[in-house]
Amino acid sequence: MSATVVIGAQWGDEGKGKLVDVLASHADLVVRFQGGSNAGHTLVVNGKKTVLHLIPSGILHTDKTCVIAAGVVIDIFGLTDEIKKLKEAGFHITSEQLLISDNATALLPYHKVLDKAREAALSDGKIGTTGKGIGPAYEDRAARRALMMADLFDSKTLMAKLEFVLKEKNALFQGLYDLPSISAKEIYDQVQTVIEELRPYRTADVSLLVSTKIKQGKRVVFEGAQGTLLDVYHGTYPFVTSSSTIAASGAISAGVGPQNLSKIVGVFKAYCTRVGSGPFPSELHDEIGQKIQKDGHEFGSTTGRARRCGWLDLVALRYAIRLNGINSLAMMKLDVLTGHEQIGICTGYKVNGEIVSEFPTSTELVTKAEPIYEYLPGWTEDLTKIKAVKDLPRNVLKYIEFVAQQAGCPIDVVSVGPDRDQTLWIKPLFKD
Ligand code: GDP
Ligand code: IMO
Ligand code: MG
Repeated sequence: MSATVVIGAQWGDEGKGKLVDVLASHADLVVRFQGGSNAGHTLVVNGKKTVLHLIPSGILHTDKTCVIAAGVVIDIFGLTDEIKKLKEAGFHITSEQLLISDNATALLPYHKVLDKAREAALSDGKIGTTGKGIGPAYEDRAARRALMMADLFDSKTLMAKLEFVLKEKNALFQGLYDLPSISAKEIYDQVQTVIEELRPYRTADVSLLVSTKIKQGKRVVFEGAQGTLLDVYHGTYPFVTSSSTIAASGAISAGVGPQNLSKIVGVFKAYCTRVGSGPFPSELHDEIGQKIQKDGHEFGSTTGRARRCGWLDLVALRYAIRLNGINSLAMMKLDVLTGHEQIGICTGYKVNGEIVSEFPTSTELVTKAEPIYEYLPGWTEDLTKIKAVKDLPRNVLKYIEFVAQQAGCPIDVVSVGPDRDQTLWIKPLFKD
């Protein structure tokens, strides 16, 4: 048996949350495997919007199990707030519905302070982080000084662990950033205000659980965050996030063998967006870019920042297909492209006078890349009420076929609106 991995094939915000919510109705388990509250995954069901940051996007299906695996950095205050908001919306989150790995990294308030202080100190070259403390939390994990979720439940040893980690943080706050120090007692007390609310969801062995489910033939969906071009190893470094966002990272985080992940779904927008700094070859700085931004409501679900917009970039998409092993594509937000006379598609780059078809591994070269476009005729029809692929206008079908052929990968799903039911299947990903 095998699991399905859903990952972003661009710079994030592709619509992963929506797709995972749709797939979750056919699944048993949804596993969020990396990132933290930097993610904002939007689900819309019958017009009602829910934005999730840490809780897996299967949570609105009350009979499914959602798991937060070891590779996630968990802002415990953000997480309790998300649970509270879901409860207020009528979703009582039981301990069968949500499981949190004891081995996940705890993201604590000092990580956010450090993230913001670092960004503020950079005059040029700001990454444009979400300010959610992601980099500092992953750093602590790699440096072997992070507190894990299990540590927060052990009030006897917590204080000593906080004192140890804050010694170094306070030297940075005071010595480098001119900020007040943070006491271990302060953090300890804050942790105590929420930790008992999280205890029911505590899970020791996520690896055993997920492996057993896969062996039993249950359907497991892995939910990625961010996007391939924000991957810490393969993205446009240093304008990336601090985790590995690609499909293989799911196996590492959940503690299952990589051969279990065989259906790799790459979620991409019918155009491109990027939030934060860094190169974006097909970015449009004109009224077309502004129209896409307006029609697509391209403002971040986590920070509210305007997203930069541009035409679809096939060089970047093919790179994402290669890095992840994507064997199925989901094209999202196709409805947003209505009303353009012609649709541009970036099929290659010109770099230092040479035409290239592969995404450059050097960020400097990506910055220099000039897009080469092909244009297809646009369409004027509203797509949002269409219920079957065969009813899509001719030019829309031509666009889908062109992209799939150029990408060298089938497009199995097309999304024509934010709602769960605005989803068209070219080939169902699950058979029931
Ligand atoms: P994620 O981070 O990949 O889950 O994506 P986000 O939720 O941050 O951003 C995607 C945005 O587009 C959200 O506001 C979704 O509700 C919305 N969305 C998703 N699919 C579609 C679609 O097909 N059409 C339109 N118009 N909006 C969509
Ligand atoms: P979802 O899961 C889009 C971007 C930030 C910044 C860079 C580093 O909703 O697709 P970080 O706070 O992670 O250190 O910021 O990564 N970024 C995202 N952009 N969608 C996201 O998540 C993102 N998470 C981080 O804007 O450029
Ligand atoms: Mg998002």
